[in-house]
Amino acid sequence: MALRKIRTIGDEILTKKCREVTEMKPRIKELIADMLDTMYDEQGVGLAAPQVGVLKQVVVIDVTEEGNNPIILINPQIIEMSGEQKGQEGCLSVPNRAGIVTRANYVKVKALNENMEEIIVEGEELLARALQHEIDHLSGILYVSKAEGELFDTTQE
Ligand code: NI
Repeated sequence: MALRKIRTIGDEILTKKCREVTEMKPRIKELIADMLDTMYDEQGVGLAAPQVGVLKQVVVIDVTEEGNNPIILINPQIIEMSGEQKGQEGCLSVPNRAGIVTRANYVKVKALNENMEEIIVEGEELLARALQHEIDHLSGILYVSKAEGELFDTTQE
């Protein structure tokens, strides 16, 4: 298990566009394994490669409570979206903060899996939100630019 350091807001790398992955190399496999370890360790529902300082189009997501259903997406693209959901969103790169963001309620995503095979992932509600949030990271977009009103502090309950 290898954990990577999470870059936080203010770090320029989070604002950059990521490059496509053209070939599955050992370094990318290691990156994916480390991203999964890091996401689970931080109790996040998703993580994008730029958040660990790598400008490649790699995303991991797991919205299950058990944390036993990882989705690995390489070069993901949203090909369909519909509906609307408005809700709270946070990000491991924006610690102790959350904001209200309106997203599509359904998305269909085309991507490659860790074997570089084409896959289609469809999601609603939380999964749709996670897909949109993580794919935004690959374009250098943080949810804070889409949040309505002020962010709030999640440490004071
Ligand atoms: Ni995020």
